[in-house]
Amino acid sequence: MHIMRVMKRYSQLALMLCFLCLEIVCLCKSDGSICRELERKALVDFKQGLKDPNGFLSSWIGLDCCSWSGVRCHNHTGHIVRIDLQYSFMLIGEIQPLLVLNHLRYLDLSGNFFEDDRIPAYLGSLVSLQYLNLSHANLSGRVPHQLGNLSRLRYLDLSSNSLYVNSLHVIGSHWLTNLSSLQYLNLDFVNHSKATNVLKVLSTLPLISEIHLHDCELHIPLSLGAHINFTNLQFLDLSSNSGINSTVPLWLFQLSGLEYLDLSDNNFQDLIPHAIGKLTSLRVLTLEYNEVPSIRLPPTLGELCNLSILTLSGNNYIPSDLNGLGEIFSGCIKNSLEELYWSGAKLTGQLPIWLAKLKSLKTLDLSFNSLYGSFIQFRLPSMQELSLGGNQLNGTILKYLGQLFPKLVKLDLSYNNLAGILTEAHFDNLTNLESLDMNSNAFELILRPKWVPPLELKYLDMSDSKLGPKFPSWLQKLKKVSYIKMSNARIMDALPVWFWNFSSNIENVDLSHNEIRGKLPAGSAKLTNLEILDLSHNNLEGQLPQFSSNLVDLDQAHGLFSTSTFSNTSIIVPSLFQLYIYSNKIMGSIPKTLCTLSYLAVLDLSHNMIEGVVPDCWNLSLYSWLGVMDLSHNNLFGIIPASISSTNLYFLDLSNNAFFGELPASFKNCTSLYVLDLGYNNICGSIPTWLAENSKYDLEMLELRNNMLTGSIPPQLVNLIYLHVIDVSNNHLSGAIPHSFGNFSAMKTGMGVPSISVGGYRSNIEINLKGRDVQLEWLSEILICIDLSNNMLSGEIPEELGQLSLLQSLNLSKNQLSGQLSEKIGQLRWLEVLDLSVNNLSGVIPPTMTNLTSLNHLNLSYNNFYGEIPYGGQLQVLPDPSIYNGNQGLCGYPLDKKCEITAPAQPPSLPNNEDDDNNLETIWFYLSMSLGFIFGFWVISGALILKKRWSMPTI
Ligand SMILES: *[C@@H]1O[C@H](CO)[C@@H](O)[C@H](O)[C@H]1NC(C)=O
Ligand SMILES: *[C@@H]1O[C@H](CO)[C@@H](O)[C@H](O)[C@H]1NC(C)=O
Ligand SMILES: *[C@@H]1O[C@H](CO)[C@@H](O)[C@H](O)[C@H]1NC(C)=O
Ligand SMILES: *[C@@H]1O[C@H](CO)[C@@H](O)[C@H](O)[C@H]1NC(C)=O
Repeated sequence: MHIMRVMKRYSQLALMLCFLCLEIVCLCKSDGSICRELERKALVDFKQGLKDPNGFLSSWIGLDCCSWSGVRCHNHTGHIVRIDLQYSFMLIGEIQPLLVLNHLRYLDLSGNFFEDDRIPAYLGSLVSLQYLNLSHANLSGRVPHQLGNLSRLRYLDLSSNSLYVNSLHVIGSHWLTNLSSLQYLNLDFVNHSKATNVLKVLSTLPLISEIHLHDCELHIPLSLGAHINFTNLQFLDLSSNSGINSTVPLWLFQLSGLEYLDLSDNNFQDLIPHAIGKLTSLRVLTLEYNEVPSIRLPPTLGELCNLSILTLSGNNYIPSDLNGLGEIFSGCIKNSLEELYWSGAKLTGQLPIWLAKLKSLKTLDLSFNSLYGSFIQFRLPSMQELSLGGNQLNGTILKYLGQLFPKLVKLDLSYNNLAGILTEAHFDNLTNLESLDMNSNAFELILRPKWVPPLELKYLDMSDSKLGPKFPSWLQKLKKVSYIKMSNARIMDALPVWFWNFSSNIENVDLSHNEIRGKLPAGSAKLTNLEILDLSHNNLEGQLPQFSSNLVDLDQAHGLFSTSTFSNTSIIVPSLFQLYIYSNKIMGSIPKTLCTLSYLAVLDLSHNMIEGVVPDCWNLSLYSWLGVMDLSHNNLFGIIPASISSTNLYFLDLSNNAFFGELPASFKNCTSLYVLDLGYNNICGSIPTWLAENSKYDLEMLELRNNMLTGSIPPQLVNLIYLHVIDVSNNHLSGAIPHSFGNFSAMKTGMGVPSISVGGYRSNIEINLKGRDVQLEWLSEILICIDLSNNMLSGEIPEELGQLSLLQSLNLSKNQLSGQLSEKIGQLRWLEVLDLSVNNLSGVIPPTMTNLTSLNHLNLSYNNFYGEIPYGGQLQVLPDPSIYNGNQGLCGYPLDKKCEITAPAQPPSLPNNEDDDNNLETIWFYLSMSLGFIFGFWVISGALILKKRWSMPTI
């Protein structure tokens, strides 16, 4: 899935590059007009402000700027009219205003990276601009109102900038009023929470025909006033602007010219009013994922005679029985509808006969509903993609599918209760079939070895059908197949030799859970595109062959490598993009050749038995792709190589190895890191201050647990404004806890703290619980914590910690902290875990502790607290007296010792110094006994490891 996503993106990039090349070729051939000197100088200045790693601007030399790549001049006047630098991967720094280019009509800087992430206001002075594209360009901050001066602008695209932090936003809507030539506007992901009336202003722009406002925190007004003048509007995307309980505004249904309407993912209540029938031009209507209790489809929907694509997935409908909707689909929609998406909508009933009326229907997706009864028994002559997976269809399927669906390309029957014997006749004449998914049914297939399967098949999943006992030799004929799943198919045979060679298109093979036996055939494999190979749960022996390929994802091959060493798995091909071979039994050391993979974006070798020193040959230039490096849980040792340092690396996990020495100073260059996990090594020296010198660092999680760090904790860490996990426990740190620790922005505001998804990838939070990896989903909610336990920290606990209002876990146990506990501790409303045990804290327990309403785990044992334990609030439901053990002067609930009502709290006599050692032993004994507590504190503060699957961050 992720690979798919990354590859998809990769190919998009490739496509854009191609497009770019074509563009350049055209431009080079363009006319011979000589540019004007003033304008040429402006371009030269502009170039000075750029970093151009790919040499895109290498042609920007000489006098004739009209022949420079991406630049075009007017044939007659010689003025520069067009600059197109789309996706040239440049870093655009400070731009000298291009003011002299006042004939510029077309400016495309999309897909580059603005270093100063504001939109330059001077763009508003380029009054001739007709086309401005600044999408995908790392822009944030306020959209300058000066853009409103561009009265000739026809096309404006500011979409998909800074999706995560400090997003690009609009204040007010007035700036739009003068864009009177605007036809196309794309503000997807531009925050509009501080702009009202945007739609109202847009409705006055006479020429506007296409508006994209996806995920803008837009307020969608119920009224646009008396006159609605969206005369030319054809395309409107208002998806993902969910207000609470919003109502579909009726003015939408006066837009009679509308051809495309997307209202998905808003919390609209009564989603489809009768008035929908007025939108007679509609061709595409998308209404998925509105969290509405129930929706009724109005009969007028059937009167949309041009509607060809209708998406209703992910909502609940009344009546939920599909058969009740026959009347709607008898309207003229029956002639126009080509694609109907209606999955996950709690639909029930049998597959309705009215489907047969939809003569143009090419795509039907009714997956993940509760449809029952038999499979379609009527002819659907146009049907190409039929998805019925995840229902309760039962019985058999008719023979001659090729006659029922002569144009079928994709058939998904997975996860139903279909059964019966399928023979060759079922698949006759499916000459276009590319994808067949019959996973999780109870079919039995009776097919001759000589059978000729549908030859276009690319995706074939026959898992859980009875295919065996022979290995299906007809597979050899599927030369185009890239995905084969035949898990649990009762194959009891040897893996044939041809299997390694029969198609170079194969990407993904799953033959797990069969009884395939014997030695893996020897020889080399020509599966040059293989990404995933799962042969687990069979009776195979021996080694994988030499793959001459991009074997990029072997995480499914657990256990297969019992005898493999790293170097003979032959995964090293220059174009390798992602390498996942975690959780195998890879031995040997990391080969130097890995350093040479210039496209490598993800390297995950974690949880293997790789040993030795990591080669210090990484050539991670500014433009390397490597974002994720996970070498954790191996047997690596030595000094961390200085060459692992790149501005693009965002996840680095070297934990659970035996690295020693200090942190290399070159890590200063890792300005994009947001997870740094070096826990469980032997790293020494102090926590470097440079880690925090530059407040632009994105670091969110700093894990240095269980090392040999010394010195004090640098107060500068507070400059890491996104930091929300600090774990430096179990080191030899000394000195005081910095007062600055009360100022961690992310712990005060939650800014940048992920809920579940972080920066474009979904993370599984894993926790290392006494050597076992346990996945605890709820843990994703405990992500703001400080663990400084088991060091030699002294001094008082800074009262400023009380300002970290979102802190969820604070562990300062096993240090030498002294002084009193500030009553400001009571401000930590979200604190779930507080462990201050085994310190020298004294004084009374502040009564404000009863305000800690989220507290689940508290340990104040082995300090010198005295006086009455505050009663009430959450403290009342922590009845375990041992959490106060070893504080001689405490009294009150839950201790047995009652407080004397009037006597003021007295400090207890100090313990006899001579007994200290003894005391300590008792303490340790006690601690190892109190497993209940330790469990609690491990769960929270044990090594948090964010990991597993990655995709690249969006540019
Ligand atoms: C300028 O030249 C190009 C290509 O030579 C041509 O396509 C275009 O029509 C010309 N424009 C004018 C305004 O003459
Ligand atoms: C609506 O736009 C048209 C031009 O498309 C213009 O002539 C008309 O005056 C506008 N009406 C209102 C009420 O703004
Ligand atoms: C949303 O509307 C429903 C019914 O109209 C109501 O019961 C519910 O309380 C509302 N919720 C909010 C958050 O306003
Ligand atoms: C299919 O399931 C229905 C109940 O949902 C049952 O009445 C019917 O007998 C089943 N048909 C077959 C062929 O198993």
